[in-house]
Amino acid sequence: MTPLDGAVAVITGGGSGIGRATAHSLAQRGAHVVATDIDEARALTVGAEVGGVGLRVDVTQLADLEQARDLALDRYGRVDIVMNNVGVLAVGLPEDIPLEEWQRIIDINLMGLVRSNHVFLPLLTAQGILEDRFLLLTSNDARAELARKYADVDAYLGEMTSELENE
Ligand SMILES: NC(=O)c1ccc[n+]([C@@H]2O[C@H](COP(=O)([O-])OP(=O)(O)OC[C@H]3O[C@@H](n4cnc5c(N)ncnc54)[C@H](O)[C@@H]3O)[C@@H](O)[C@H]2O)c1
Repeated sequence: MTPLDGAVAVITGGGSGIGRATAHSLAQRGAHVVATDIDEARALTVGAEVGGVGLRVDVTQLADLEQARDLALDRYGRVDIVMNNVGVLAVGLPEDIPLEEWQRIIDINLMGLVRSNHVFLPLLTAQGILEDRFLLLTSNDARAELARKYADVDAYLGEMTSELENE
């Protein structure tokens, strides 16, 4: 028996990299994993790899996140852990990066978290398990000179996470 036995984890961007590795790690510790990703094939693959479920979720779409919450509830009856892992980056000086690209990054990295908060925080609060379990991945490179766009959003996400922790 581990502390995560029977816990239910939803991971965004779980189809590769850190999200996929975390899906495996949580499953090895006994958690049920809902692996989501904008790439459906990757999401389904990771869901199957870890003995959980996979679902295509684009974090720019509120309805997709609602579907992930509903799938977790239908399948496992609760949600204990939300890993807001999706992050995309563009490298360059602020003035060289097209406005549309800024908009895209903000919609994914920042508004993706805002949407996830709307979908999952009321549930986690109602379940009484909010503390320590709403996870946000951000970067230690938040002030890196050559990744300013990505960095600016990451710094903001760090602030938002601190506020959530305080609450
Ligand atoms: N890899 C690193 O060195 C590093 C360092 C610091 C922070 N991070 C952060 O960790 C997180 C994961 O990094 P990674 O290297 O594993 O990334 P990755 O690119 O390997 O995985 C990101 C996943 O997100 C998915 N994705 C992209 N857009 C999406 C969207 N709109 N909706 C849903 N899914 C979407 C992709 O399909 C991909 O599977 C990111 O937030 C990144 O900023 C990574």
